[in-house]
Amino acid sequence: MPLSLELLSKVGIEPAEDISKSRKLVFNTNREDLKLMVLRGMDVATYVEHGIADLGISGRDVLLEHGGDGYYEPLDLGLAKCQIAVAGLENEGKLPPRIKVATKFVNIAKRYYAEKAIQVDIIKLYGAMELAPVTGLAHRIVDIVETGNTLKANGLITLEVIEEISTRLIVNKLSFKTRYASVQPLIDALEEATT
Ligand code: PRP
Repeated sequence: MPLSLELLSKVGIEPAEDISKSRKLVFNTNREDLKLMVLRGMDVATYVEHGIADLGISGRDVLLEHGGDGYYEPLDLGLAKCQIAVAGLENEGKLPPRIKVATKFVNIAKRYYAEKAIQVDIIKLYGAMELAPVTGLAHRIVDIVETGNTLKANGLITLEVIEEISTRLIVNKLSFKTRYASVQPLIDALEEATT
């Protein structure tokens, strides 16, 4: 069962039908006041920011990349812990003054290098990031590192950790005010279930 459904189950929220066996994207639950939406990770913040969903469960990596401010982030759910890091070839040799960095986290990478006042060329990729330094497409990557096994298997190492990542609860700012009576108890219950 996906981690977020497991967590919801812990606080007594169950979808009315098996989400994994359905192509539906909105599900009733055992609570009349609560529906679940199944979204791509990258879209959760957008739905919450626009108030279509009152609450969302999303990785901090995605939230940092999204960079929105229409929601609060009241709770670290502590799931799916990993890091966003800069990685490069273990024996990368001398680099040119302006390096190429491959990533799907374009905004995070841009912010990171801008803060260091280092000019780089960012190359957007959608997956298998580790291939970029191996093939010479880029000098370095900015990517998720969990166990480090993928880096190791491709002759790469972590050079710098940019952020510690875990799953967060986010709440639409307006919903937090207007639906406080139902939102806050849910936040409390999730907090209790994750500490
Ligand atoms: C992520 C990430 C790395 C890998 C790191 O990819 O992009 O490739 O996990 O995990 P590890 O440190 O435990 O080896 P994911 O499997 O999520 O697929 P993606 O390429 O679609 O992001």
